[in-house]
Amino acid sequence: MATTLPNSFFTTLVISILLASVLYQATGDADDFLVELNQSKPVKEKLSHFRVYWHDIISGRDPTSVRIVNSSTRNGFGTVNMIDNPLTVGPELSSKLVGKAQGFYALASQEELGLLMTMNFVFIEGKYNGSTITVLGRNAVLNEVREMPVIGGSGLFRFARGYVQARTHMFDIKTGDATVEYNVYVMHY
Ligand SMILES: *[C@@H]1O[C@H](CO)[C@@H](O)[C@H](O)[C@H]1NC(C)=O
Ligand SMILES: *[C@@H]1O[C@H](CO)[C@@H](O)[C@H](O)[C@H]1NC(C)=O
Ligand SMILES: *[C@@H]1O[C@H](CO)[C@@H](O)[C@H](O)[C@H]1NC(C)=O
Repeated sequence: MATTLPNSFFTTLVISILLASVLYQATGDADDFLVELNQSKPVKEKLSHFRVYWHDIISGRDPTSVRIVNSSTRNGFGTVNMIDNPLTVGPELSSKLVGKAQGFYALASQEELGLLMTMNFVFIEGKYNGSTITVLGRNAVLNEVREMPVIGGSGLFRFARGYVQARTHMFDIKTGDATVEYNVYVMHY
């Protein structure tokens, strides 16, 4: 009786052994599926700037921005639009098309016109054809300049990070159509 070890000792022992084996397995697995890659020569990060015009076309027979969620709350809070908006080099829709802004924006503020923008800029031009950057951020549309983060990219924009500055170029109060100038600053390889 006096030599019996307390139950808690065995419980602790069992837990320790289980934990150790789980940790061992986790490290073992990581060794198997994660391989550190070695660059033969270090690649240099670049900072690029470009300007595009973003066309939010709500009116007419061929809208590029479509309301998918309606909301009757204050300031339209909860409204969502799905977009496939043209990106052009000049402010006119007829100017050269370089890509599309695909994604959605949502009215995310109850106090003002504050949008959540979630979109990919998909480029179709030259060597950038098929490359994308992802913009995700807050867009208080009545402010003169709105800054939003570039949180990633693909193709020539792999590892992208940066920001955009959006300025309303034109807003048609009758139709709701808008043209917004986007200055994009992006670090990538
Ligand atoms: C890269 O280098 C590390 C550290 O020297 C090494 O452990 C790893 O196996 C190497 N990876 C490849 C893919 O050769
Ligand atoms: C939103 O409301 C407008 C105006 O009432 C209507 O024309 C449209 O079909 C509605 N859209 C959706 C997705 O409910
Ligand atoms: C872009 O890529 C697509 C699909 O790979 C191709 O069909 C199209 O012709 C390309 N456009 C340009 C301008 O190179």
